[in-house]
Amino acid sequence: MAETENTGALLARIDDYIEHLFAPQDEALEAAVRESRQAGLPEIQVSPNEAKLLQLFAEMVGARRVLEIGTLGGYSAIHFGRALPEGGELISLEIDERHAEVARENVERAGLSDKVEIRVGDARELLAEIAENDEGPFEVVFIDADKGGYPEYLEWSLRLTRPGSLILGDNTIRGGTVLDPEDESARATNEFNERIARDSRLSAILLPILRERIDGLTIALVRGG
Ligand code: SAH
Ligand code: DHB
Ligand code: MG
Repeated sequence: MAETENTGALLARIDDYIEHLFAPQDEALEAAVRESRQAGLPEIQVSPNEAKLLQLFAEMVGARRVLEIGTLGGYSAIHFGRALPEGGELISLEIDERHAEVARENVERAGLSDKVEIRVGDARELLAEIAENDEGPFEVVFIDADKGGYPEYLEWSLRLTRPGSLILGDNTIRGGTVLDPEDESARATNEFNERIARDSRLSAILLPILRERIDGLTIALVRGG
């Protein structure tokens, strides 16, 4: 059966298999997705399996401070919040006040308000403030906002991390559009991937991720130290 069925259907079944085993959705996660949908937010949060991978990365590096660029309804933020120890903190940046409001409610419902701080504004300005106020270093930076900003967000990430930190970039394959970039966001994403691949300060890979279409997560470890 599996060997003869259409590849798309098989990939979806594999993704479901992984989710049921390793990323079962609980009430707080289901509510976050439901409330975000009801509030009319775009359904572009990470998949359950990718979210679990993000949580696992934060756990693997023993993250105490995590920085997220692009909150949406807080679905990925809840996973980072769950990875943090007592006293740990996620700072998540969001340009849209309404997204941030929905996210705060979702985070509150998940019991993580003491660990998750959502800041509203353009990430470019908020990142400059974070650097100015010396709020780093962060052990994980997750870049998931406007794709055109990725190269700039990479520069800030390098300033705000330390050896042993992870810099993660979502949507870096986007159904393959990054292979033949035809629009500005695909070009910027491609530049982001190329810069990371060539940067001797980083050890990195781009991991294909199953979603409705194939997307990708760029994973970079800050070396040295
Ligand atoms: N990380 C979320 C999904 C984020 S979607 C999750 O997986 O659950 C991208 C978000 O980035 C959107 O909410 C959008 O409003 C926000 N965004 C877009 N441009 C931005 C900018 N310049 N600064 C901050 N946030 C931005
Ligand atoms: C899309 C998905 C994302 O995770 C994102 O951050 C932005 C856009 C999309 O599928 O269009
Ligand atoms: Mg994304």
